[in-house]
Amino acid sequence: MKKRVSRWTAAALGAAVAGLIALQSCGGPGAGAGADVSAVAQDRGLSEQDVLAAVKTYQPTGQQDEYVMFGSGGHSGQVLVIGVPSMRLLKVIAAFTPEPWQGFGYGSEEHAAIFERGRMEDHEITWGDTHHPALSETDGDYDGEFLFINDKANPRIAVIDLRDFETKQIVTDPNMGTNHGSAFVTPNTEYVIEGAQYSVPLWEDYADVDEYQDVYRGLVTLWAFDREAGRIDEDASFSIELPPYWHDLADAGKGPSAGWAFLNSFNTEMATGGIEDGNPPFEAGASANDMDYLHVINWERAAEVAANDANVRMARGMRVIPLETAIDEGLVFFVPEPKSPHGADVSPDGSKLVVSGKLDPHATVYSWAMIEEAIEAENFSGTDDYGVPIIAYDDAVEGQLELGLGPLHTQFDDQGNAYTSLFIESAVAKWSLEPLELIEKINVHYNVGHLAAAEGDTRSPDGRYLVSLNKWSIDRFNDVGPLLPQNFQLIDIAGDPMQLLYDMPIGIGEPHYAQIIAADKLQAMRTYPEIGTDPATMEVSENAVRPGQERTERRGNEVHVFMSAVRSHFTPEYIRVRQGEEVVIHITNVEQAHDATHGFGISKYNINLSLEPGETQTIRFTADRAGVFPYYCTEFCSALHLEMTGYLLVQPRNFQASLQD
Ligand code: CUA
Repeated sequence: MKKRVSRWTAAALGAAVAGLIALQSCGGPGAGAGADVSAVAQDRGLSEQDVLAAVKTYQPTGQQDEYVMFGSGGHSGQVLVIGVPSMRLLKVIAAFTPEPWQGFGYGSEEHAAIFERGRMEDHEITWGDTHHPALSETDGDYDGEFLFINDKANPRIAVIDLRDFETKQIVTDPNMGTNHGSAFVTPNTEYVIEGAQYSVPLWEDYADVDEYQDVYRGLVTLWAFDREAGRIDEDASFSIELPPYWHDLADAGKGPSAGWAFLNSFNTEMATGGIEDGNPPFEAGASANDMDYLHVINWERAAEVAANDANVRMARGMRVIPLETAIDEGLVFFVPEPKSPHGADVSPDGSKLVVSGKLDPHATVYSWAMIEEAIEAENFSGTDDYGVPIIAYDDAVEGQLELGLGPLHTQFDDQGNAYTSLFIESAVAKWSLEPLELIEKINVHYNVGHLAAAEGDTRSPDGRYLVSLNKWSIDRFNDVGPLLPQNFQLIDIAGDPMQLLYDMPIGIGEPHYAQIIAADKLQAMRTYPEIGTDPATMEVSENAVRPGQERTERRGNEVHVFMSAVRSHFTPEYIRVRQGEEVVIHITNVEQAHDATHGFGISKYNINLSLEPGETQTIRFTADRAGVFPYYCTEFCSALHLEMTGYLLVQPRNFQASLQD
């Protein structure tokens, strides 16, 4: 869907214009306030631009948004789903952090299995620092099937199925300390790219920072995605060893640059900090050089190389192409990039690459044709200390444009324009790629990090909306104590000049990046397709029940309860067990009505499930606490929702009466 102007927009604009005309001839303040647009606008002190912004974003009840934005939830470890242009929060998807409403991490065996995979060795991790969501792509276009997101703090990637908007898999990179340059997908989602950030020892378990240059290593991992299975295939995935620079954002090539990936780096100085030992502090030591290295990586060729076991070395169970092999096979090349670079963004047609240096006021535009020509002609200016060939800056860069202070990230529209965030300046610069010209700037509030444009990372952006993900909000919202929300600002980029439309406070974590997809590309389920569907497999569970099949079975020390949930009843209504027994409850929501969700919470056992229509889930716990524990439906599902309840009766060990088996 491109360039669709819906009827309501035209109609509403007409009404607003009429209201604004009336505004000119309005009586005193309050005259007829509440009755017509002009009086209300005047009463509230709204300008013509304010009314226009309201008309562009307001959605009457029942009206759905044209776009859906998937934003990272920052330290909450979750994913935010937001309608655009209304900026209404639609959902918070549990990704790396337990979430009680969705029952994610509160007793469900299916979800526990996902978390189990996300553990760090034997440590349970209950938070994540989500940064960059990536929608799955087909031929360089969002296809609306899957979403990937990284956890920078504990190098992991989550796979979310957009049929039910649930996390299905978490994979952990065993060799990274943190990941930041992730998740980014290749044009047909063959691979999910994960770049490390702070280098750590790769081939050895431990080494002091004294041995930084010899033992610490950077890393990029290519997680192979099996679309049919809807899962990352860990056995088919591999990493490439890189010099111990710190790696930052990545992007995948498309069109002429398809098959290649681009990864920024900083700290090519290999500073190791230690201000307490009299060394330069990290922030100075890691930004001394005028240039760092843009990493140009041939992932398509790397996949062929990695397919041969002779070319890989195992590190903590992961297949890694050693740096020496990567150099010999022509998988990695460097191009200088100024200065402390952050964003690396491939243009929609795949012919250019925009890099912005946090400490350089320019956008630097690289030509893929020039880079490719230099690689083919083996025209290198030398190598770095580790032997990686370097393409000279002038042999790769087609131009630079001064944008302002602190340029970070770039998005694109459908008119050949680019939009770059200016962190220090708190502004967004709009500029044209050909010719390289600054068009205009708009102020944002405040300290913008990433930008997200409608369909912005595809080969055909829509150019309608841009969201500025601002780190600071300062005075934009009501005071809520010293920890302030972040501010998502919606900007209309359909015409000149850009117009700021809406401020959306984000009160969980620090969101980093977002992607915006046309809503009609999403094909979410309304209910699970068959009664008894296990969301982990999307197939009917062997533990599902139909009405009339409910029962309790004793299997040794385990008590298996096969339960149904329907408005307004759980069957069975009693679960009788002995203290210390293992309780396994398989619950099926036997309804197929849209939105007929039931919850299942057991008091004092830290258990809560969400059972969507048709879904079956299993809870397993040890009834180690004796007593009487009501269980009840935690969703207000019907008039008799309070009556949708039952008792878990845990008979004390020393209790005399015997339970009937
Ligand atoms: Cu089912 Cu409330």
